Amino acid sequence: MIETPRLLLRLFRDQDREPFARLNADPHVMRYFPAPLTRAGSDAMVDKIQAHYRTHGFTLYAAERRDTNEFIGFVGLAIPGFETHFTPCVEIGWRLAAAHHNQGFATEAARAVLHHAFQNLALREIVSFTVPANLPSRRVMEKIGMHFDSEFDHPRLPESPPLRRHGRDRNAG
Ligand SMILES: CC(C)(COP(=O)(O)OP(=O)(O)OC[C@H]1O[C@@H](n2cnc3c(N)ncnc32)[C@H](O)[C@@H]1OP(=O)(O)O)[C@@H](O)C(=O)NCCC(=O)NCCS
Repeated sequence: MIETPRLLLRLFRDQDREPFARLNADPHVMRYFPAPLTRAGSDAMVDKIQAHYRTHGFTLYAAERRDTNEFIGFVGLAIPGFETHFTPCVEIGWRLAAAHHNQGFATEAARAVLHHAFQNLALREIVSFTVPANLPSRRVMEKIGMHFDSEFDHPRLPESPPLRRHGRDRNAG
């Protein structure tokens, strides 16, 4: 659906479920989340991603390396299911397998997804949020031109630090 120099961003397929479950089970990839996902939890997320596309016409896209055809994770758009002062909104999000980190893949994909959001979907604003400690994710936000807006407490995460407090960045089209 969306091509970048090194990646194809496309809808999830059933063959992605296994490599997706592997990266969701990796404690390093999931270190800023409450826990890694089980196979069932990972499959449920794929079901949600596919349903999101059917309902909204956009979703978190499977990222495939064009050189190896390997599925390496997701980058894309989602409507958060929780309520806070800035919802409803559309967020941009990313999660890649550790072997593919720090090679600029998330940034390359996110730039293309932002372009798609503003040019093709005519969205007016995209937000992204993460815990302050998630420096790689914050760096991607910075690199794609997002601006820090405010901190908030994520209503779906436990009270105790360090996971509930989030920073929100945004980018206007
Ligand atoms: C966040 C994530 C998608 C970034 O993917 P990526 O392809 O590695 O991102 P990029 O290579 O485009 O950019 C990463 C940047 O973070 C920087 N970085 C990586 N680790 C860092 C650290 N510990 N401290 C500071 N900066 C760090 C890299 O140097 C790079 O910046 P640079 O280009 O200025 O050198 C990836 O780390 C990931 O999947 N993390 C786990 C899932 C996750 O946390 N998702 C976000 C939830 S909100």
